[in-house]
Amino acid sequence: MPEKDDKDAKNFHLDVPTPNEPFFLRGSNSLDWGLKNRLAKIFNPESGRTVMLAIDHGYFQGPTTGLERVDVNIVPLLPYSDTLMCTRGILRSTIPPSYGKGVVLRMSGGPSILKELSNERLAVDIEDAVRLNVAAMAVQVFVGGEYETQSVHNMTRLVDAGLKHGIATLAVTAVGRDMVRDAKYMRLACRMCAELGATYVKTYYCDDFDTVAASCPVPIVIAGGKKLEEREALTMAHNAIQSGALGVDMGRNIFQSENPQAMIQAVRKVVHEGEQPDRAYDYFLTLKNEKKSA
Ligand code: 5RP
Repeated sequence: MPEKDDKDAKNFHLDVPTPNEPFFLRGSNSLDWGLKNRLAKIFNPESGRTVMLAIDHGYFQGPTTGLERVDVNIVPLLPYSDTLMCTRGILRSTIPPSYGKGVVLRMSGGPSILKELSNERLAVDIEDAVRLNVAAMAVQVFVGGEYETQSVHNMTRLVDAGLKHGIATLAVTAVGRDMVRDAKYMRLACRMCAELGATYVKTYYCDDFDTVAASCPVPIVIAGGKKLEEREALTMAHNAIQSGALGVDMGRNIFQSENPQAMIQAVRKVVHEGEQPDRAYDYFLTLKNEKKSA
């Protein structure tokens, strides 16, 4: 039992107003405390942005180039990420549990690269996401795809489960091979995901991206997409941020770079400091050459 607190001289700081700050992320103010706390493990509260490192490609395409050995190629990059997006198999087998930042867990799966990719189901139980202490759960949504309704239903079930447990849902807009990656499509896909309850949305950068970001009431991050030359990838990230994206969820353009550690640090400059692409590229070259001469 604590001793009785019978001092009269208490200080209630009557001259200090009780703070009533809105949460720093767009569209997220009405969420519960636990969900906001998890979002703050993904998005840096200082910059309001995130560098998510995406390494979940193996869930449908096996040992992707650059991910053959996650322990060798990816673990050294973790200190430079704000969040790691991966499968539960890689998380349990290879990621040190001392990783203290947000984990975004891949929750959907089923078909391999050899089959119709939109035919996904939920592949992880919410209880396992809770057990793994993840910050968000990622699910692919195939708007316009053959199994569109099924994939939307996967997302809405996850949103319901996530709200129950205070875990964010990341809707990943998957664009089929034959579809046009233009702003009209991205606006449709992102807005549908937000309307149906996604906490935040991942999509691809395109021309007129500002209209995609403006019409999506929750945070948007962009995927990196196929490997580009480093300067080009940094330019894409910069343009996305300037157009309203709140970060990147980048995979191949980091882990397939000739120097992944230098690249992820250059991406951080663009995302968190709004660095110009040319200067970020110079920074990449400096880090790369430092490593060579060390
Ligand atoms: C796979 C994904 C990937 O995480 C996503 O595509 C990001 O990786 P990359 O930057 O290599 O495109 O969601 O479905």
